[in-house]
Amino acid sequence: MKSANTTKELYRELRALPWEQLWKDEVQRFDRAPARERFERVSVVRAVGVVFPESGPAEQRDEVRAWLRGLLHDPEEKIRRYAMAALPKIGAGAGDEAELLALLRTGAGEREKKFLGRTLDKIGGEATLEALAETGALGAQTEQKVKASVARSRNPSAVRLDAKIADFGGLRIHLRGRTGLEEIVRDEIAAQGKFSVLEVEPGLVAIEARAPFTLSDIFALRCFGSVGFVLGVVKSSGASAPADAFASVIASPLSQRLFGALTSGAIRYRLEFVAKGHQRAAVREIASRAYALCPQILNDAREAPWAVDIHPAADGETVELRPRISPDPRHAYRLDDVPAASHPPLAACMARLAGPQENESVWDPFCGSGLELIERARLGGVKRVFGSDLSAEAIAIAGRNFSAAQLGTATTRFRRCDFRDFGDLEELPPRSLTLIISNPPLGRRVPIRNLRGLFEDIFAVAANLLAPGGRLVFTNPFRMDSPEPSLKLQSRRSVDLGGFECRLEMYLKVAR
Ligand SMILES: C[S@@+](CC[C@H](N)C(=O)[O-])C[C@H]1O[C@@H](n2cnc3c(N)ncnc32)[C@H](O)[C@@H]1O
Repeated sequence: MKSANTTKELYRELRALPWEQLWKDEVQRFDRAPARERFERVSVVRAVGVVFPESGPAEQRDEVRAWLRGLLHDPEEKIRRYAMAALPKIGAGAGDEAELLALLRTGAGEREKKFLGRTLDKIGGEATLEALAETGALGAQTEQKVKASVARSRNPSAVRLDAKIADFGGLRIHLRGRTGLEEIVRDEIAAQGKFSVLEVEPGLVAIEARAPFTLSDIFALRCFGSVGFVLGVVKSSGASAPADAFASVIASPLSQRLFGALTSGAIRYRLEFVAKGHQRAAVREIASRAYALCPQILNDAREAPWAVDIHPAADGETVELRPRISPDPRHAYRLDDVPAASHPPLAACMARLAGPQENESVWDPFCGSGLELIERARLGGVKRVFGSDLSAEAIAIAGRNFSAAQLGTATTRFRRCDFRDFGDLEELPPRSLTLIISNPPLGRRVPIRNLRGLFEDIFAVAANLLAPGGRLVFTNPFRMDSPEPSLKLQSRRSVDLGGFECRLEMYLKVAR
């Protein structure tokens, strides 16, 4: 290969090679080279760490790992460091950990220790914890990361949905969701009666409990998106709030009590700046300081049962503790999904907007995976459920999800067809439906030739199939008046459909 002047250029060239060539030619050349050339060609080690995981054969993994392990004994520190960085990418294991710890014990220099720490952050286990207790050499960040990963593998922790949350007077709870749905969220809270609403802002309903409660009580509410306990507010001073202030909120007595009461297993959290992207350096800094204050609470980006979210607020930043439960207990019925599935809390809001009614005959003409029908059926009073969709796959999924939701005795019929053809079903004469509820296609992912015409047709079909008193509840991207005189607008609100503003509307069918 052509000569390369800099380590970076050489790396770029090596990184583009097929695995075979990199391993057979370049690694051999590196191994045979005299010390100075090895030093200059250290990029080979980095390239191996990148190209092998992408295209190397799995059966060669042990051989590659052994080669890197060998390099940990190279007399040249730089080569050792490159090998350390590459090892976790190949999938290092206990043997590699032992080699790295041996290196640590035999007196690595300060810079090398830093790199050893970074590698052990990723692959360290019990042996690293023991070594840290002995030597304390690698610092609190490695200790925290390794403790978290040992805790994760020993005993997967979980959020306790049914643990009583008592004696937390004044605890502020933030229910967050799509902008525009706040009033429906508020109505649902009032109907349940266990929480009082403190404040409503775009995309946020702040509540507090009226009596001891559980997380299950909160997840009995279906219209919000995510829930967070407010741990504190950090006032901004200058450009950003200091790491110490965030750390003391995360390690505060309130936080420790909530974590303790609601976690089974080790307490692990992921730290996220909600509106600011990754902020890796700030996350590291805050997490290390919080760990110094309370070493029982471990920062861990992987499979953590909790997130600590930092949200921008008017007077600084709000620090919230959010359970990360997957799947969301409210949607356990979702066996499968369609690409354009509705946001589940939106489907729940639409069902609430429609309201329960006895002997309901409900149709979703664009049922996809069936969320609106399921949410409506959950509210009770439904006698007949119809779903239709152009996609055969969606129809199968809607049927499966509906059964999994176990919603009782309503008769169901899911049919693959264009919504305009649904009215020719024998069991569906004109004026036989009491509710049409739907999230129609918006032409964003799959272009639709005449989208406005499709919405005009929805009105026409609804005017034909709804009984007087029946409701049409749907999301409408057009600012249009009902072209059907028998459909009277009851409510309209702008909602955020994930960065796209749309209107959630309800029409009432009147007798003509
Ligand atoms: C936004 S998705 C509905 C998502 C659904 N609410 C859910 O919970 O999964 C719109 C659906 O409309 C269907 N569709 C598009 N054009 C249609 C038409 N002319 N007739 C019936 N269904 C149609 C698509 O296949 C898609 O599943």
